[in-house]
Amino acid sequence: MSTAVLFDRYGTPDELYATDLPVPSAGPGEVVVRYQAIGVNPIDWKILRGDLRARVPLDMPGACLGVEAAGVVVEVGAGVRRFRSGDRVIRHGRPGTYRVHEVVPASQEADELTAWPDRFSAEQAAVLPVAAGTAYSALRQVGLRAGERLLVHGASGGVGLALVQLALLTGAAEVVGTGSARHHDLLRGLGAVPVEYGDGQLERLAELGPFDASVDCAGGIEAAEATVGLVPDAARRVTIVADTAVQALGVPYVDHVPLELASTLDLIGHSPFELPVAAGLPLSSAAEALALGEKGGLGGKIVLLPPAH
Ligand SMILES: NC(=O)c1ccc[n+]([C@@H]2O[C@H](COP(=O)([O-])OP(=O)(O)OC[C@H]3O[C@@H](n4cnc5c(N)ncnc54)[C@H](OP(=O)(O)O)[C@@H]3O)[C@@H](O)[C@H]2O)c1
Repeated sequence: MSTAVLFDRYGTPDELYATDLPVPSAGPGEVVVRYQAIGVNPIDWKILRGDLRARVPLDMPGACLGVEAAGVVVEVGAGVRRFRSGDRVIRHGRPGTYRVHEVVPASQEADELTAWPDRFSAEQAAVLPVAAGTAYSALRQVGLRAGERLLVHGASGGVGLALVQLALLTGAAEVVGTGSARHHDLLRGLGAVPVEYGDGQLERLAELGPFDASVDCAGGIEAAEATVGLVPDAARRVTIVADTAVQALGVPYVDHVPLELASTLDLIGHSPFELPVAAGLPLSSAAEALALGEKGGLGGKIVLLPPAH
């Protein structure tokens, strides 16, 4: 049998339940992947709440969260040439990874699987698509170049921690990032200049600005006002938070589709890049993991760990 964490209606993490299902089989063009680690992201609780029901249609009852995971191919369907049993893969894209085994389309066009580079642990590999992939796309969108100065709102979150590292790998002269005080040592350790958000944020940032470019991973009017005030070139500001008030102030939204994971992996593959993993919980504790993530303030990613056998 194989455990999956499912839900039958939109709501809070209490809607999630673990259930045992038969191990699935691969059809033509598909593989079965057995996951070793699964990333937890804000999009998971947004989907569960029903916030994205127009954009992310789900089959209910029995819907499954999770847009990223790392695992091993355990069965290969007819016609699959890209993967073999035993290959380590990173899964990304549509929801459905909160489970031990998943049937995944294996074609290049489906674009749901990427080879898992040896240097990353399962936990690290599982959290690369959303955090590092989004950070990579956002930096490309603002066109960050070597020697420039970048402002990151929400630098101590999953995407922000990736942004700090990718920007410095790109050759940024300085990355200034907001986060709560308890995460300032973490940010300094990655090479960023930390600044506390909240009252007086604009003044604190103004002492360090102006900036060549900015990525907002926090949302909210205060962050947007700081961006607009301190990044003179409007074409070099983005927000990854779908917040119409932020966009109305002149900070466009970046959707990280199409995911540029292969390019992201090329950039970080031989670097010390690592995303802090703040909590690893058993897959069966997915509800707890979501509640923890939604509360925020962890200073790193949350991963779910399926049983080893
Ligand atoms: N467009 C896309 O493709 C895309 C992709 C990924 C994520 N997202 C969205 O981007 C956002 C960030 O994702 P994430 O995974 O990085 O989330 P996360 O790990 O929860 O990080 C949230 C960050 O926001 C900071 N923060 C919390 N309250 C704040 C406030 N009032 N003012 C300023 N900063 C505040 C946190 O700082 P402290 O923890 O230090 O307090 C932390 O740095 C989410 O809304 C997510 O849905 C969008």
